[in-house]
Amino acid sequence: MNTRPLSILALSFVLGACAAAPRGGTPAPGAGRDVRLAVVDQARWSMSAHNMQPWEVVLDPDDSLAFRVHIAGVRLLPQADPPSRQTLMSIGGFLAVAEDAAAAEGYRTRIDLFPEGEPAADDLGKGFTAPVAVVHLQPAPGSPAPGNLDALGGATVKAGLGQLALAARQQADLRQVNSFPGIAVDFFTDEQTLARLKPLLKEAFRLEMTHLPTLEESYTLMRRNARQIARTPWGLSYRSSFPRKSLGAIQFFETLFPMKPAKWGLAGADIFDREIDSARTFVLIRTSGNRRAAQVEAGMVFQRMWLRAVHDGLAVLPASQPLQEYPAMAELYRSIHEGFAGAGETIQMIAAIGVASPGFAAGFRIPTDGLVRP
Ligand SMILES: Cc1cc2nc3c(=O)[nH]c(=O)nc-3n(C[C@H](O)[C@H](O)[C@H](O)COP(=O)(O)O)c2cc1C
Repeated sequence: MNTRPLSILALSFVLGACAAAPRGGTPAPGAGRDVRLAVVDQARWSMSAHNMQPWEVVLDPDDSLAFRVHIAGVRLLPQADPPSRQTLMSIGGFLAVAEDAAAAEGYRTRIDLFPEGEPAADDLGKGFTAPVAVVHLQPAPGSPAPGNLDALGGATVKAGLGQLALAARQQADLRQVNSFPGIAVDFFTDEQTLARLKPLLKEAFRLEMTHLPTLEESYTLMRRNARQIARTPWGLSYRSSFPRKSLGAIQFFETLFPMKPAKWGLAGADIFDREIDSARTFVLIRTSGNRRAAQVEAGMVFQRMWLRAVHDGLAVLPASQPLQEYPAMAELYRSIHEGFAGAGETIQMIAAIGVASPGFAAGFRIPTDGLVRP
């Protein structure tokens, strides 16, 4: 048998793996260092729906301590997130990390949300090209830097979460990250509530994975090896679903013999079922109303909660499928709101919380210079 083609392929894999962008890493201090870039370099590690990193940054040419954050119109999720609610939440996450990263650099942050006016819920055109926020940094030497940025260097774990019924004290710690009066954070650990919640989450995930438009959207975003990640460093990978020891083999075979979309979707749904079945703690973030600003703020709360949880050795598995707003999901969207939100409230996020398993690889992100536009 001629093994040469296989060896070449294996070698190209190893080389591809070396090309993967490392996580984190603030630009080295020195003359001419732009603190805004140091802040963006951290903020880009925020969570985002489907890891789309839907943010773009414009540095203010007249103010060396200000930058604007825009929606990256080329990285939306039109099938899973038609009104771009999750996109706005993701940008909230970016702003939260930016604020914490600035504090770590010795700067206080003022975030002006929607300086040109808050877009209406259905304005995905003009309102979406205006900035979501202008970020102003002000030197504040000696002010305490918030903790938990260390979590940005860690891996996101979405499989093999250890079971955990979160104690009241830990719930209070996580709830503390929320300082917005219009946002509520609920934790559920009791059997009865879990028995109502879990079937909705599982059914919604299976729907996303069998509904052709959403399945194809996710499938197209799959990056199967380091080379694909380097070429298009946004989207999904197997890194947070398989530990390092099996990741190489999974990536290798998925590159050579990729599963067809339908099979891939069902395999994902089966893994998700197992995770949800074993979970014993869920968190839910609600806002009064569903304004764009509320979506951004909910994203800030979720991101800070994630940082705190990972810092404490926990893992957070978002399960946002029943909150998606395409027509086929409407019935499950209605059920989850009927069961878990008050009148006029919107559920912005649902996630399982467990104990993080060791041995997962870190994720990937667009390099800073790919996010900053003139
Ligand atoms: C608004 C929002 C919704 C999300 N929904 C899900 C989800 O339903 N399932 C999931 O596994 N991850 C979800 N995520 C998490 C992203 O998948 C995760 O942040 C991204 O893939 C980056 O992961 P990494 O840090 O491991 O690279 C969501 C994140 C945000 C901000």
